[in-house]
Amino acid sequence: MEKVLVIGACGQIGVELTLALRKIHGGDNVWASDIRDENPLLVGTGPYTSLDATDAEGTRTLVKREGVTQIYLLAALLSATGEKNPKLCWDLNMTSLRQVLDLAVEEKIKIFWPSSIAVFGTTTPKVRTPQMTVIEPTTMYGITKYAGEMLCQYYQKRYGIDVRSVRYPGLISWKSEPGGGTTDYAVDIYIQALKEGKYTCFLSENTPLPMMYMDDAIRATIELMQAPADMLKTHMAYNLSAMSFTPKEIAEVIKKRIPNFEMSYAPDHRQAIADSWPGSIDDSVARNEWNWKHEFDLEKMTDTMLENLKTKLGK
Ligand code: SER
Repeated sequence: MEKVLVIGACGQIGVELTLALRKIHGGDNVWASDIRDENPLLVGTGPYTSLDATDAEGTRTLVKREGVTQIYLLAALLSATGEKNPKLCWDLNMTSLRQVLDLAVEEKIKIFWPSSIAVFGTTTPKVRTPQMTVIEPTTMYGITKYAGEMLCQYYQKRYGIDVRSVRYPGLISWKSEPGGGTTDYAVDIYIQALKEGKYTCFLSENTPLPMMYMDDAIRATIELMQAPADMLKTHMAYNLSAMSFTPKEIAEVIKKRIPNFEMSYAPDHRQAIADSWPGSIDDSVARNEWNWKHEFDLEKMTDTMLENLKTKLGK
């Protein structure tokens, strides 16, 4: 029986991943933790504890006491917030990862740690970016993700631990809110379309970015963690992809459902971050090695987002 710990369980991915893991392993076998108050969606579904991801002793105590066998480390500062506070971004993202990797060695724990398309920079090919390519990130967030990938690979080779990772594209969800990313506009746009009938986008209209609906991201994470180790030949974070679109393209798809929707553009500091990232990703390695396959494209995701947000927002 697995005993799972989710660190950063109240974030955009954490909430939905914790709920999915609780369905698989049973509520009591999945500890949720975060520095924030417990997310209301998690209340009553399993154990929760307040934990600072950089608190090595607190994490070690919990892991030993509960006999944890798997850790999902999701706590991080993302691209836009990371540029506001690069030092905190480095400290939080790297300290938490290193201590979880040390715990993995000590206690033989299997680890999931997310990387991101933010590892790629302006020198990377922008279209169908391959798994193996030039990697020169421009944001502190991207630097922590690339350094983290190397650290995971080092621990895997040197100590033989089982650590798995994907480079998530921008993630779009309606249950839990995103926090501090450059791709967050693709969530806000649905909320504002329903609430106000209009949206001012902080990226310019022709900025393509790789994106994924949260259900696909959660399934990818769980399928990668469940894949037999001998299927996995690539010991770096896997490229992962579902769809790519520009702000103009998502606006057009929303307009088909909400004809009066108005979109305007006021690019800010996040434009430079978006411009440094690829427009689309080649994830054929993940598709070949562990049979990854996405289910949601832009049309299907838009129907699902609008339907669920209508109920959530009472529209
Ligand atoms: N969605 C993230 C961000 O925009 C990318 O990993 O920062």
